[in-house]
Amino acid sequence: MWALSLSAHEVEAVQDLTREIALEHRSIENAEFMRRATVYAHELPRRIRQFLSDFKLLEPACGTCLISGYPVDNRRIGKTPAHWKWRLDGETSLEEQIVFVLYGCLLGDPFAWATQQDGHLMHDVFPIESNRDEQLSTGSEQDLWWHTEDAFHQHRADYVGLMCLRNLDRVPTMIGGLDLSRLSQEQIDVLFEPRYLITPDESHSEKNESDLRKSVREHDGDGIIDSAYEEIKKLSCAPLRVPIFFGRRQTPYVCLDPHFTRPLDDEASRALNALAQSVDENMQEIVLQPGDCFFIDNYRIVHGRKAFKARYDGTDRWLKRLNLTRDLRKSHGARAGCEMRVIV
Ligand SMILES: [Fe+2]
Repeated sequence: MWALSLSAHEVEAVQDLTREIALEHRSIENAEFMRRATVYAHELPRRIRQFLSDFKLLEPACGTCLISGYPVDNRRIGKTPAHWKWRLDGETSLEEQIVFVLYGCLLGDPFAWATQQDGHLMHDVFPIESNRDEQLSTGSEQDLWWHTEDAFHQHRADYVGLMCLRNLDRVPTMIGGLDLSRLSQEQIDVLFEPRYLITPDESHSEKNESDLRKSVREHDGDGIIDSAYEEIKKLSCAPLRVPIFFGRRQTPYVCLDPHFTRPLDDEASRALNALAQSVDENMQEIVLQPGDCFFIDNYRIVHGRKAFKARYDGTDRWLKRLNLTRDLRKSHGARAGCEMRVIV
C-alpha cells in the first residue's frame, strides 16, 4: 500500500493551516470554503502534496493510499453520534474535516448526491441502530458486501475517501482488486461488453432521507430533490446496459457491485461469477486508526466491511467519507451550476 506517515513538523504545519482556516469557515459544507479549499490545499506540506499527486498520476496497482499521523482530539470531537441527520459535530470535528477535505482536493473535487445523507458533502459512517441489519455503511450486523461505490451511476466517484475519527473495536475495512490471471481471455472480452444492468443500492433510497429534510421538501421544496429521487427510481426500473471492465485491456478499470448487478445472458453471468470469486478470495483487511485518511481508487478497487457488534453508546467506530471526482464537468448536466457540487 502507498502510505505516508506525517512527521511532527508536518503535523504542526497541517494543524496551523487548519486552525487558521477554521477561524474563517465554520462548516466545510459552506460554498465559500469549498471554493477556496483547493487553493488552501496548496499550502499543505510539499511531501503530502507530492504523495497525493503521485498517487493520482501513477495509479499504482494497489489502488489505495493512506496518510496517517494526524492527531484526533478524542474529547473535542465528542461521542460517536446516533444518527447523521443532526450534524452535531459540524464544529467539534471541524479541524479534522478540513484536513480531510484539503487532502481530498489534491485528488479531485468533492461532490455529493441529493439522494444520499441529505445531500451533504461530508458523510458519516457509524452504526445506526435502526439500520442494524441493512446493507448500508451505517449497518453493522451484516457484512457490507464489497462494491464499487455508486456503481450504478455514470458520475460515480473516482476516489472514495475515508477519515477515521474513532475505531476502538478495530473494525476492518475490506478492500479488493483485480487478478486477471484468474480469468480466461474470453471472460475478459465478455466483461468489456455492455451486458450488465446495475441498479442503485439502498443508500440512495428515499426511506433513508431524514425527517427534517423530508418536511422541508414537503413544505418549501422546489421539486429538485423530488426529481433526484425520481431519477433513482428510473435507474432502478430501467438501468443502462454497462460493461464491468473499461479502459485499457491489460490493466482495466472496473465497475463492480455483484449484489446489484443483473447479467443479461448466461455467458455474462459466468464471467461475472468468475470475476467476483477471484476478487472475493483476495480481499484484504485494513484497520483504520484515528487520524488516518484513506483514499480508495474507485476505478480499480472495491471495498466493503465485515459485520461487527455495535454498542450504540457513543464509542462506536466513526469514519467520515468523501466522494471525489477528477472532473466536475463530467456531471455538468446533473448539477444546478458550475460550482454546485450536488448531483440531482
Ligand atoms: Fe461504499
